Amino acid sequence: MDSNNRKWVIGASFFAGLMTAIALPTMSAATPETSTGGKNPLQGMTPVEASKGLELPVGSDDAAVKQGRYLVSLLGCASCHTEGALIGKPDPAKTLAGSSVGIAYSNPMVNAYPGAVYPPNLTPDDETGLGEWSLDEVVTLLRSGKTRHGRQTMAIMPWTSYAQLSESDAIAIASYLKSLEPIKNKVPRQVLPGNPAKTPLVHVGLYRSR
Ligand code: HEC
Repeated sequence: MDSNNRKWVIGASFFAGLMTAIALPTMSAATPETSTGGKNPLQGMTPVEASKGLELPVGSDDAAVKQGRYLVSLLGCASCHTEGALIGKPDPAKTLAGSSVGIAYSNPMVNAYPGAVYPPNLTPDDETGLGEWSLDEVVTLLRSGKTRHGRQTMAIMPWTSYAQLSESDAIAIASYLKSLEPIKNKVPRQVLPGNPAKTPLVHVGLYRSR
């Protein structure tokens, strides 16, 4: 009786539209304990919809810049590096100028506070973007993940795949980025695992149904 009652209440909320946040606790009550001690690690999370309609700035007529724009579009750089591209609506005034949606880098199914990195500003603004990076430094980042300060970026920035870029393709991407209008936009600082992030997070994981 009690549990039927509870299911009904949850069902009602389910139809109120809070699908992930409300539906998962019902299921975990009926399934065996999970590695998180039966606690639903996604409690308090809400589903969001990915946005569409990202347009890259055209840049100059230079052949390398054109090729760079083509590659940047193909490799999806702007879907991470643009405000509003992952949630809501991409801001056309801030294309490629970084995002305040963090990317989790430990597993939120295990760690309630998984830590987050923020895709930085790729426009050539001196203070908040790649303004002080040379063309070669951008090429090195793309092919090795190493920043101009020698720090190894997380593999969330897919440099392990971009390491396959030919030198001329990497130069084309860097030339396109350097040709953009500088946009001032500072992204939040990295959040270390164990600390709550103040922004929404994306997590990419590999899961298997029980
Ligand atoms: C899946 C999301 C994602 C995609 C796709 C992506 N990046 Fe990144 N990128 C990141 C994140 C996150 C960081 C920061 C990583 C860190 O600090 O450890 C980053 C860092 C960088 C940096 C270093 C900038 C700095 O100030 O330190 C450059 C340059 C960069 N990305 C360029 C690109 C380009 C060009 C592409 C497309 C060819 C691209 N990224 C695609 C997420 C992404």
